[in-house]
Amino acid sequence: MAHAAIELEHVHVTYRTRDGLVEALRDISLRVEPNAFLTVVGPSGCGKTTLLKIVSGVLRPSRGRILLFGEDLSQARLEGKFGFVFQRPLLLPWRTAMGNVALTSEIVAKQLSREQRLERAREWLGLTGLQGFEDKYPHELSGGMQQRVALSRALSFHPQILLMDEPFAALDEITREAMQGELLKIWARIRSTILFVTHSIAEALLLSDRVVILSHRPGEILETLDIPFERPRAELLRGQKEFVELVEHVRSKLRGPEGQLG
Ligand SMILES: Nc1ncnc2c1ncn2[C@@H]1O[C@H](COP(=O)(O)OP(=O)(O)OP(=O)(O)O)[C@@H](O)[C@H]1O
Ligand SMILES: [Mg+2]
Repeated sequence: MAHAAIELEHVHVTYRTRDGLVEALRDISLRVEPNAFLTVVGPSGCGKTTLLKIVSGVLRPSRGRILLFGEDLSQARLEGKFGFVFQRPLLLPWRTAMGNVALTSEIVAKQLSREQRLERAREWLGLTGLQGFEDKYPHELSGGMQQRVALSRALSFHPQILLMDEPFAALDEITREAMQGELLKIWARIRSTILFVTHSIAEALLLSDRVVILSHRPGEILETLDIPFERPRAELLRGQKEFVELVEHVRSKLRGPEGQLG
């Protein structure tokens, strides 16, 4: 079998805190195939960010193993492998949109000249719909635009794996839907492997090839779903019966037998 882009084998994470141990993730095993879009959906506090942290190597699991393209995470060369997009855009306020996007290539693509970096930054800002805003500072941009800058920054060096932590959670509904559509268009073009986390069920089902449902803390996998809808996925999908039923199915899983909501 070909190597998965990301593979987790029986991963457990327990945090040590002043008040004792907090079990965040319990026995997580999953595979993300190369160029696939996998989303982890689960209630607040179930360990989604923790999961991204262990995949990126920022945090070590208490037990279990992580493989990237078949290599043990502790041995894999990580430089240039990951792009991150967080819930908040985390831009440098003293740099323009273009300067913020060029930042990653200053770190991971040192061989490029300054002109090449800026050219690449301009190109990616264009792809996320920000042409004409290259020279604006973050405070001159709306929240949605700032998030587009963050997305451009993450994509600009063609990461093999894109980790996205509720990147659209702070946006209004209309902007969020527009950004979801744009992300899918960009992904169709670049085909990085995407590991996305969200607590929005509709977002998970709309974007992904596969959805992993996590339980309340400690996060355990309740179910893995292959999403049957054809791509490209039209906006109309949200209203379709099959889609609405699948949303309801995931919701009932998350609610659990006690009817508890996340
Ligand atoms: N550094 C830490 N030290 C101790 N406990 C932590 C730490 N980080 C997270 N936790 C705990 O682990 C659990 C999972 O946290 P995590 O941030 O992964 O959840 P999440 O699913 O991303 O939540 P949200 O949807 O609210 O972002 C939470 O109960 C949290 O309190
Ligand atoms: Mg989180």
